Amino acid sequence: MTIINHLEREIGQWWDAAASYYQKEISGDDLNTVHYGPFGSSETKLNLLGAVKGKKVLELGCGGGQCSVTLAKKGAICTGIDISEKQLEHAVKLAEKNSVRINFIKKSFSELDAFPKNSYDIVISVFALQYAERLDRIFRSIKRILKQNGIFVFSIDHPFYLLVNPNDMVLSESYNKVGMVSEKEIWPDGSNHNFFMYRRKVSDIVNGIIQSGLALQKVIEPFDRNDKVWGSGYRRKLVHRITPTIIFKCAKT
Ligand SMILES: C[S@@+](CC[C@H](N)C(=O)[O-])C[C@H]1O[C@@H](n2cnc3c(N)ncnc32)[C@H](O)[C@@H]1O
Repeated sequence: MTIINHLEREIGQWWDAAASYYQKEISGDDLNTVHYGPFGSSETKLNLLGAVKGKKVLELGCGGGQCSVTLAKKGAICTGIDISEKQLEHAVKLAEKNSVRINFIKKSFSELDAFPKNSYDIVISVFALQYAERLDRIFRSIKRILKQNGIFVFSIDHPFYLLVNPNDMVLSESYNKVGMVSEKEIWPDGSNHNFFMYRRKVSDIVNGIIQSGLALQKVIEPFDRNDKVWGSGYRRKLVHRITPTIIFKCAKT
């Protein structure tokens, strides 16, 4: 069994601290369709999952549960995992409010060994795997737990979007510099927080999928200029030049 490491714990603490603000100001409340990320289009438009009624779905990094609740309302049997207790509290309330039963579990996506093999029709993750240190391991675990012909759809920050400073539109980071990014933050209330995420090249992601044995079926760089779901933290000028979201669809063939 994997033990949650200290960085994962710190990431969980950051999300615990951010959860109320995130759920109020950033996460959307449209539960009619899955929204894949900032300006990143929706399942209604992209149709990546197909019919979900009766399908077993595992969501990784489910946050406040919007995606799992949306799919459960359409008849999917959902399990959602997240490392942040506070995010999960929102998820549990959202499921109750919408009268759907979802198994929300506090677990890291580095602990997928705990899930039985060949057991899910769909694994989905919306804007969460940028917090994963070992994507290659996660891909291999997903191949193991998916049923034959099962699908895995995930969205993350577009690696190009993260490189440009939205204030002056200048390329401020090296695309070649990959790995952990850490920032010390002071929030408006004066509290101090350590933010961590992982930056990687598109080729690292694609090669990780290929090496796991999953079949990569589609890469989507959506741009939905009318997207209003993910708050106002994204500068239009940059968003119009580089889409903030990238989506991958894979299958266990
Ligand atoms: C940007 S939020 C996205 C949440 C949700 N998918 C949504 O669409 O609103 C990222 C989520 O990933 C979760 N997360 C970060 N690291 C994680 C880990 N190692 N295991 C599980 N969840 C994690 C965070 O707690 C947070 O809820």
